Amino acid sequence: MSTLQHQHILLAVTGGIAAYKALELARLLVQAGAKVTPLLTKAAQKFVTPLSLQTLSGSAVLSDLFADAEELEIGHIRIARSADLVLTAPATAQALSRAALGLATDYLGTLYLATRAPLIFAPAMNQAMWLHPATQDHLATLKQRGAIIWGPEEGNLACGEEGPGRLLAPAEILRRLEAYFTARSSLKGIRCLITAGPTQEPIDAVRYISNHSSGKMGYALAEALSEAGAEVILLHGPTSAPPPEGVTRYLTPSALEMLAQAKRLAPRCQVIIGAAAVADFSVKNAAAGKLKKINLTHLELRPNPDIIAELGQAKQKGQLVIGFAAETERLIEEATRKRKEKNLDWVVANQVNQVGGVFGAEENQITLVQAHGAEEWPRFNKKELARRLVKRIANHIQAKQKGEA
Ligand code: PMT
Repeated sequence: MSTLQHQHILLAVTGGIAAYKALELARLLVQAGAKVTPLLTKAAQKFVTPLSLQTLSGSAVLSDLFADAEELEIGHIRIARSADLVLTAPATAQALSRAALGLATDYLGTLYLATRAPLIFAPAMNQAMWLHPATQDHLATLKQRGAIIWGPEEGNLACGEEGPGRLLAPAEILRRLEAYFTARSSLKGIRCLITAGPTQEPIDAVRYISNHSSGKMGYALAEALSEAGAEVILLHGPTSAPPPEGVTRYLTPSALEMLAQAKRLAPRCQVIIGAAAVADFSVKNAAAGKLKKINLTHLELRPNPDIIAELGQAKQKGQLVIGFAAETERLIEEATRKRKEKNLDWVVANQVNQVGGVFGAEENQITLVQAHGAEEWPRFNKKELARRLVKRIANHIQAKQKGEA
C-alpha cells in the first residue's frame, strides 16, 4: 500500500509550460490513494483547464479567492489547514517569490500564509530566471523556513535554452512523496528528549553568564524529530528563535533547571540529544538585587553539572544518547574524547569557527562521530541537516529493531 494513502495533498499548479505535467501528477497521486485538492492560478489556466485538472484529481479546482460558492463550501483558511502537505508543481519564479515574501494577493499567496502544512516546491522556469539572485534569495528564505525544494533538473528547456529549469518527472515527484511520507512515520512510537539553546546563569538581578547559542540547531532537530512522527520533549534555555510546532516544551533557563527536568524525563525516552550550549559555570551566591560595579570584579564561579554526561552515565538499555561537541581546534580528537567520557553513542562534532559560523547561523557543517569512526558532512541549512540526522536516527532504530545494529 502506498504511504500516500489517505494523505490530503493540496496540489498548487502555477503558470508555466510545465503545468501540463501537473495533470499526470494529479492522476498518479489519486492512483496512489491520496486525496488531492487542486489549485490553479490564473496564469496556470492559460496552460491547462480547470476541467482537465478536476477530472483527473476528482475534486473541484480552487482558483478564485473571492468566489462566493468556493468560500461558502470550503473556506480558504479551512482548506489551508486541512491539508497534510502543500505541493506546488510546477512552481514558477513568481510562486516562489510570493511564498517567500508572503504576498497574499491571490488564493495561492493566501494559502501559503494560512497553512500550517509542510511546503514542497518543484520549480520549473527558464534557466536564467532560476539562477537569478532574486530567485535564489527567495529559495534560501523558503529553505530557511523549512520548505523543501525538489529540482529543477538540467536539460533542454521549452524556451530553447539549456540549463537548470526542467520540472522533475511526475513519477519522480511521486517517488519522492512516498519516501517523504515513509520518513514522516519512521519514528512513530519513539519518545525523544532534546536540549537546545543557551542557559543563563544569574550574576544578580540584571546580569547573567551565557553564550551565543540561538537555539536554531536544537529547534530544527526537535521539529525534524516531530515531523518523523516522534513524540518530542524539548528543554530549552531563553531564546528568541521561533519555537517548533508539535513538541512539548519546557523553558529551563539555567543549567540546574535543565538538569532537573532532564533527569526527570530521560528515563521515559528512547532517544536523548544534547544540543544545548549549557553554560559551564554558574555564580556562587548570585545576588537577588543589582550588584554595584565594584563587586563584579571578583565573581566566585562553580562548575555546572554536565547534563548530557549524567544522562549518558545513566543510559538505559536500548537508549540512544547523542551529544554535540563545540570546538575550535582538534575537532575529532575532542569529540571522540567527549563521546567516551560521557558514555555517548554519537557526537555531532561542530567546528564552531567554520566559515559562515555556527552559533546563530542558518547553516552548519558537522562531523558525525560514532564508535566506528568519524564521517564529515557537507554544510547544510540547519533544518536540512536536522532532517538528515533524524533519518540516521530512524535507520539506526529500525536496524536495532531488526537486530542488525
Ligand atoms: O543554537 P545555535 O545558534 O543554532 O548553535 C548551535 C550550537 C553551536 C549551540 C550546537 O550546534 C552545539 O554545538 N551545541 C553544543 C554546545 C556545547 O555546549 O558544546 P560542548 O562541547 O561544550 O559540550 C558537549 C556536550 O555536552 C553538548 O552536547 C552539551 O549540550 C553538553 N553539555 C555541556 C556542558 C554542560 N554543563 N552540560 C551539558 O549537557
